[in-house]
Amino acid sequence: MRRPIIAGNWKMNKTPSETIKLISELKPLVAGANAQVVVCPTSVCLFAAKGAAEGSNIAIGAQNVFFEDAGAYTGEISCDSLLELGVEFVIIGHSERRQYFAETDETVNKKVLKALQKGLKPIICVGEHLKEKEHGITNEIVRMQTKLALEGVLANDIENIVIAYEPVWAIGTGLTATSQEANNTIREIRKAVGELYGEKAEDIRIQYGGSMNAGNASELMGMSDIDGGLIGGASLKAADFAKVVNY
Ligand code: 13P
Repeated sequence: MRRPIIAGNWKMNKTPSETIKLISELKPLVAGANAQVVVCPTSVCLFAAKGAAEGSNIAIGAQNVFFEDAGAYTGEISCDSLLELGVEFVIIGHSERRQYFAETDETVNKKVLKALQKGLKPIICVGEHLKEKEHGITNEIVRMQTKLALEGVLANDIENIVIAYEPVWAIGTGLTATSQEANNTIREIRKAVGELYGEKAEDIRIQYGGSMNAGNASELMGMSDIDGGLIGGASLKAADFAKVVNY
């Protein structure tokens, strides 16, 4: 059985004081959740987030990490620093990082390997652009991104990985994949994982992301292969996010 996992990707929103406020509001609202709950604030808010989440069922995730241990990499963030702050998850390869910060399938893979080596749990983002969807090559794109991200990952680590299927055209647009479309693509991702790891693919949790909110969460979460959500806009208000968490 795969435990559902609902994660909020706050993107570049909320200051440290706002982080404390939002998590404090969220705590009582999600205390009884069946799903695992994760919030992913900006790096400079992680310390505040961890403190605010103390004693609750809210785990903390980062939005990025670098693939070297330490050294002359101005502006980058190490796994060790994240771990010291009590961070458990890290989003890797979000489409916004691929688009604006030159992340590639290769750097995504390096980050995944480093995170796993250090004991962080990657949330690996894959998803097709609108043009790719229009060409009918969604499955090819997500299969390729999935397999390249997992290159060199050991079978034992599969249970520590979450994959987020985020169709790029659905992010922040109010458009969502239909629950059936999302489920089919997620099935295809699981199949690709299975081609590498056999029945271990049944253990990997795969989220949907892209305009997921209180109104569509329960339908999406009701699908056979959708194990969670990666929530952007709707994770920025406690009441909204709590509704998704308690879908
Ligand atoms: P929205 O929920 O705002 O569409 O963002 C989805 C996303 O990119 C989560 O990582």
